[in-house]
Amino acid sequence: MVKSPMKKDVYRKNFEERKDWYQKAQKDSFRLKYHIQPPMGWLNDSNGLCQKDGVYHIYFQYCPFYPELGSIFWGHMTTKDFLHYEEHEPALYSDTKWDCNGPYSGSAYQENGMIYFFYTGNVRYEGDYNYVTDGREQNTILVTSEDGFAFSGKQLLMKNEDYPADMSRHVRDPQVFRENGRYFMIQGARSIQDEGSILLFESEDLIHWSYKLRFQPGKPFGYMWECPNYLKIGERKFLFTCPQGVPRDDYEFANVYQCGWFSLDYDFKGEDYRLGEFHSLDRGFDFYAPQVFQDEAGRWILLGWMAIPDSGYEEPTLAGGWIHALTIPRELYVNEAGLLCQRPLKELEGLRKTAVKGTLREGLNRETSPCFELKLLMDKAAGEFELKLRESAALAYRDGVLRLDVTGCGSGRTVRRLKVEELWKLQIFSDTSSLEIFVNDGADVFTTRVYDSMEDLRISLEAAELLGDWEYYSFE
Ligand code: FRU
Repeated sequence: MVKSPMKKDVYRKNFEERKDWYQKAQKDSFRLKYHIQPPMGWLNDSNGLCQKDGVYHIYFQYCPFYPELGSIFWGHMTTKDFLHYEEHEPALYSDTKWDCNGPYSGSAYQENGMIYFFYTGNVRYEGDYNYVTDGREQNTILVTSEDGFAFSGKQLLMKNEDYPADMSRHVRDPQVFRENGRYFMIQGARSIQDEGSILLFESEDLIHWSYKLRFQPGKPFGYMWECPNYLKIGERKFLFTCPQGVPRDDYEFANVYQCGWFSLDYDFKGEDYRLGEFHSLDRGFDFYAPQVFQDEAGRWILLGWMAIPDSGYEEPTLAGGWIHALTIPRELYVNEAGLLCQRPLKELEGLRKTAVKGTLREGLNRETSPCFELKLLMDKAAGEFELKLRESAALAYRDGVLRLDVTGCGSGRTVRRLKVEELWKLQIFSDTSSLEIFVNDGADVFTTRVYDSMEDLRISLEAAELLGDWEYYSFE
């Protein structure tokens, strides 16, 4: 997609002229019922996530006139409860010379009633460039807002020359936080030697930044790391990132690009730090560029992009005038084993309309609408079983491997597997064209799009050996 500039007034004119595109997208049968999706056109990363005066602001990479016009914006939705969403005009446009090919991803930092949005201004030169070591600017830009709706002018904070000398032209996706009474910013990066890392900058005033160090494991791990996030739960510190260029394998790195976390041991003072092992955040086909933020109640909430760039799957929603969505909101917590886990946000219990419960031994075979939640609660670690979630989507557990097969409805997506020694809980969120499967209270998750028929949908489970209960909640 060629990314081109577009100011707010030109966006409005284009939108007026294409209102029928909007209507068409809204009516598509694959339209999700409880996920954030583009009002029309294209969506990717969640951006600028924050809560201000009770209102959650969810911005996202948005290209409403895709594929005709490639201009990228920050789309904008708000919610107070993660059940009802309000759609707004895009928040940021490509309207300065520093971001004329798109306000790329960025995040929010709040202090003294002000929201500071830091993002990457993408500039792509016309000409014969390789666009890795030349041909583009990646500007770090600040805009502020008191309410998440009205924004200050854009201020250029850093440009290519301000990044370390061995960086390629891929440095982006800033996140800002405070530690030890100082401000820190992380950015995803690719060096000219094709090594991915997270760059750390520091500042005393949020405006002037100086490079401090880079986070990198002992040996190279991919050529580019996108979308870094830092978070702290209790005393535990974590770094998230999306490494590109890690060799694929069957179990651990089955997708074209990866997304996961490292535990971080660092005091944000000297130069010494230690990264733990890399843990994948998702085992399905469609999860990338998640952003986390802390809400007013102190919860760490994650919203990911329910897709992976360059994955090559077909997306039948395109015929309906839209493509991609965000995941359900998930709360992060650390489990007894010290692993960072994701659980569906408590508010989503508000989606439940009717509840049915039974024992696993009896099995389960029922008609369903595509929008439901299903829980399997095992009394002791599960033996073999097969759970059919739709005509062509099944989850099977055998010999310590949990296997998701969506070959028949995945538009190119096939099988993903996860080794799970002891399986004691599954919690599944199904929407018209997505599945999110939380394993053992979110120690692992499978996120995937599915494009099965929605007629005569049935869930069935054969599990004569399983002890425990199931709970089914219809959302419609
Ligand atoms: C990740 C990403 C970011 C970039 C944005 C552009 O999906 O490539 O690194 O800022 O998307 O849309």
